[in-house]
Amino acid sequence: MCGIVGYIGERNALPVLINGLKRLEYRGYDSAGVAVLGENLQIRKCKGKVTDLEKHLDKSLQSGTVGIGHTRWATHGEPNDVNAHPHESHHGKFVIIHNGIIENYSRLRDRLIERDVKFKSETDTEVLANLIEFIYEKSEVGAELAVRLALSKVIGAYGLVVMCKDEPDKLIAARKGSPLVIGVGNEEYFLASDATPIVEYTKSVIYLNDGDVAIIRKEQLILKTLKNDEQGPTVQQLNIDIGEIDKGGYEHFMLKEIFEQPKSINDTFRGRVRSEESEIHLGGLYNVLPKLIEAERIIIIGCGTSWHAGLVGEYLFEDLARISVEVEYASEFRYRNPIINHDDVVIAISQSGETADTLAAIRLAKERGAMVLGICNVVGSSIPRETDAGVYTHAGPEIGVASTKAFTCQVTVLAMMAIMISRKKGLITDERYRDIIREFTEIPGKIEKILRHNHDIKKVAELFQNATNSLYLGRGYLFPVALEGALKLKEISYIHAEGYPAAEMKHGPIALIDTKMPVVVVATKDSSYEKIVSNIQEVKARNGVVIAVVTEGDTVIKNMADHVFEIPQVDNIFAALLSVVPLQLFSYYIAVMRGCNVDQPRNLAKSVTVE
Ligand code: F6R
Repeated sequence: MCGIVGYIGERNALPVLINGLKRLEYRGYDSAGVAVLGENLQIRKCKGKVTDLEKHLDKSLQSGTVGIGHTRWATHGEPNDVNAHPHESHHGKFVIIHNGIIENYSRLRDRLIERDVKFKSETDTEVLANLIEFIYEKSEVGAELAVRLALSKVIGAYGLVVMCKDEPDKLIAARKGSPLVIGVGNEEYFLASDATPIVEYTKSVIYLNDGDVAIIRKEQLILKTLKNDEQGPTVQQLNIDIGEIDKGGYEHFMLKEIFEQPKSINDTFRGRVRSEESEIHLGGLYNVLPKLIEAERIIIIGCGTSWHAGLVGEYLFEDLARISVEVEYASEFRYRNPIINHDDVVIAISQSGETADTLAAIRLAKERGAMVLGICNVVGSSIPRETDAGVYTHAGPEIGVASTKAFTCQVTVLAMMAIMISRKKGLITDERYRDIIREFTEIPGKIEKILRHNHDIKKVAELFQNATNSLYLGRGYLFPVALEGALKLKEISYIHAEGYPAAEMKHGPIALIDTKMPVVVVATKDSSYEKIVSNIQEVKARNGVVIAVVTEGDTVIKNMADHVFEIPQVDNIFAALLSVVPLQLFSYYIAVMRGCNVDQPRNLAKSVTVE
């Protein structure tokens, strides 16, 4: 959480910082701030969003060519002007921005207070600023050494950038646990939590690794470890385009990303699913295939929407590849004492590749000897770098806080893996394989068809915009879709929504049913169809209001339900990919009608880099 940016070079730093913060606002939007070094060092910060910060900016900030900026998701200390970053040290020598958590901040703070150091905020970051300054003044070392010594005393996670008033020609950046990317320009450098603020200036980037410290002057970057060992930075080329991180004419990123799904699924297929006659090719798994095929058990870990994709994966792997699967919340898995065998394969799913609990669960699984694979969207993020092998989703940048295209691309990758293993194990006939691949490649076109009906979905959304509660039901492959539909609604519209396996309804939630609460039933034609028809009847018998996602041409449910969203006929194994789309649109339209901030829902942040 929190977004950080920095610039050093010949340009006016302020616009670079403000544009960058706007791009990173999805990571947190409680407060924002900048510090710019021109003739003197100036800090502006306030509670609220980057647009609120802009009201505090004046001409005096225009001349600086070195600067840092921050958009916050509060952990220590409420969101207010004082707790906003950047934080200045007690004697004003250092200014710092930080993403992460300093776990031993309280002890460090007490020890600094004993030595007469004064604090203004409640944040862990100010402790770091003061610790650096304390070491700098007491030991009479340069800024770089003071930063490295201070960081060696810190327990916790950080991506940070430090400015020192006495050494105005440099920025010092460091990473442990929270991401930091440096864009390499011509006698200029750009720093950010991810590559999106950088791509409009340069495509050459350096991803910092845990333990790296970068000392950056406009003409030179030196990369070291905390212990002062110099290392050659690896410069990589970004393959994202500026157009991918703009709204592209859509009102919100979320809507754009919903509509991008046919393309992002095609991108995820590209080069991997070629034709009905050729095998699925997942280059990232090539070296681990024998172990994956032989796996006795797969453990899938993830959080939120990625966990829901994992549940679809459970059905896919068990159905097609006949491998037993457990799907675990990363946050639970890491704190249990899980039994992990050497021949288990762990698959970690994450859009951002930075989710703290998922990373910690990966480390635990690796410690216990499991092979860990990653399914990630953000190239170069921490999870792909810590896993043994993996597959990127190629959904493109997902900026709306509510995950949409990442989910369908994660399910696409899981389906490719399950089909590939099934084929390699000889569990699938040539004919069935050809049918599956043909169906698979038709998915983007079928999603386009659903998207063309967005206005019908909007009309139904209008009727339910004032609901306070809702229930989402599904069975089999569609149970995770019910969970995902409910999550989408609650996180962006703040309407309470519960997802349930349809058959479980009568063990409790049926008591909620009344004439006002919408019951959304994902009920496309599959092997559980007859059963879910009975569940719909149970709701209707209690005067419930049913919105059903059905297969085109289904007249049975159409006659029972109050409203239907139709999706094209599809093989059971791909039903999640289509049926989730109307639910994404339904939530989106309701949230917009309720005046909610769809792309930046309250209290949330896109990548959860704290436990
Ligand atoms: C919901 C949502 C979150 C994320 C979760 C995991 O719309 O976006 O539930 O799915 O925070 O994030 P990643 O996939 O980045 O690990």
